Amino acid sequence: MTRISMTVDGTRYEGEVEPRLLLVHYLRDHLGLTGTPVGCDTSNCGAGTVELDGDSVKSCSVLAVQADGGEVTTVQGLASGGEWTLLQTAFHEQHALQCGYCTPGMIMAARDLLKENPDPTPEEIRHGLEGNLCRCTGYQNIVRAVLAAAAEERRRRAPTPRPTEAARPDGQRPAAPVAARQEART
Ligand code: FES
Repeated sequence: MTRISMTVDGTRYEGEVEPRLLLVHYLRDHLGLTGTPVGCDTSNCGAGTVELDGDSVKSCSVLAVQADGGEVTTVQGLASGGEWTLLQTAFHEQHALQCGYCTPGMIMAARDLLKENPDPTPEEIRHGLEGNLCRCTGYQNIVRAVLAAAAEERRRRAPTPRPTEAARPDGQRPAAPVAARQEART
């Protein structure tokens, strides 16, 4: 047995594991974090995607001992204070799931994709998520959800226009305040 410790979803864990134990089984069976599923036995489906030290990895293709000392984020660690992330909300609103088995991995992979490319095209999303399989073939709505989350994230990050810069409904710029007009004349 090997002693390991790691931070998962903000909580520090320590324990003894067999060196051959996969990270996904450590998360599920040792820590009880069953939000990360096992979707196949060949590391093909991506359902168990998590973040390890900032990188997206398939937790079924990483040994728990390889994550020793690391920081892991699972889909269960995304929501904060009962609030979903934009991606989680978008998956819900765009009906981007059917059975939902692929959803944790899709959300984690999409999160990684948007970190690299905050304004992806549908083709770039399909390419970025090609390591994640949806057996229900719900790809169309998954792509829509990622596009929606990306658009909302960009909208929130955009600087709010100052009142004098905001266009009026008639397309005209609002008049500057009197003091500013007088200053402009001088
Ligand atoms: S929603 Fe069922 S596998 Fe994707």
